[in-house]
Amino acid sequence: MKLRHILVALVSAGFAIAAAAQQPLVLKFSHVVAKDTPKGKASDFFAQRAGELTGGKVKVEVYPNSTLYKDKEEMEALQIGAVQLLAPSLAKFGPLGAREFEVFDLPFIFDNADELHKVTTGPVGQMLLGKLEAKGIKGLAFWDNGFKSFSANKPLRKPEDFKGLKMRIQSSKVLEAQMRSVGAIPQVMAFSEVYQALQTGVVDGTENPHSNLYTQKMHEVQKHMTLTDHGYLGYAVITNKKFWDGLPADVRGQLEQAMKEATEYANKIAREENDSALAKVKAAGKTEVYTPTAAERTALKKAMVKTHEEMTSRIGKETIDTVYKATGFDPAKL
Ligand code: LMR
Repeated sequence: MKLRHILVALVSAGFAIAAAAQQPLVLKFSHVVAKDTPKGKASDFFAQRAGELTGGKVKVEVYPNSTLYKDKEEMEALQIGAVQLLAPSLAKFGPLGAREFEVFDLPFIFDNADELHKVTTGPVGQMLLGKLEAKGIKGLAFWDNGFKSFSANKPLRKPEDFKGLKMRIQSSKVLEAQMRSVGAIPQVMAFSEVYQALQTGVVDGTENPHSNLYTQKMHEVQKHMTLTDHGYLGYAVITNKKFWDGLPADVRGQLEQAMKEATEYANKIAREENDSALAKVKAAGKTEVYTPTAAERTALKKAMVKTHEEMTSRIGKETIDTVYKATGFDPAKL
């Protein structure tokens, strides 16, 4: 009788171990934007491909819209291993001590996505991702969102129009300097809080790629928007380095492949997503969408480009010069 009990216990323990061995490895991917955005769609795409390519050994759970963590918390969660994947915007790496990332925030430094890709896919991109390793973070890829427009409850056409306006920014010293260059008052705020802050008047305006503005319904509380394309907002997909290095080599390789495909997908859809969001903002009819004249854009550019020199000691002259060289930007030729 005793022997029978022991046998039954052994058999059920065996089943439990076998079942546990088949349990997928769950990776949490947290982000702060809506599902229906370039980052939201690309992270869902990655989750699907990761499941397929690992044959179900890995399950990626995506938590959009700050449902798991807000901006600042998500970085801390990654470092302690509470979440395995994030794609913070490049403007959010300064507080980690990776100040070189703020080169992407310099106003008017990129004229278009091609210029930007020369940087992200070249040695500067690799150098920047490499800088994260000292913080226990492994950079996996750059994902596009797009170029930003300004919005407020008053028209923003000339540099003087910004004077005294409280403008929400991401946590970047460069964005702070950009707003101050036109006399605005920058206010750092988590993305999840922006809609309410605009609605209640805690801030007067902000800057966003159109997909972020539309999916957070910010256009409902911003009467004016100016299509300035003055700066870029994109992402670095990151993971916890210790966790990543500890993955079985085959699984890591499959996840790298899934990330490669998700990156191609993200960078392919970003432009369309932003164009379609802009069309929806126009159709909603709550926001006057203004395209600045060439002279108006140049005046804004002249006022804001001062920021480049001001931020050189923070970002590093070498990083800025390498970007200028890759893109052909020359601050002397404005
Ligand atoms: C923001 O805070 O405005 C953006 O970084 C949000 C995002 O992740 O696109």
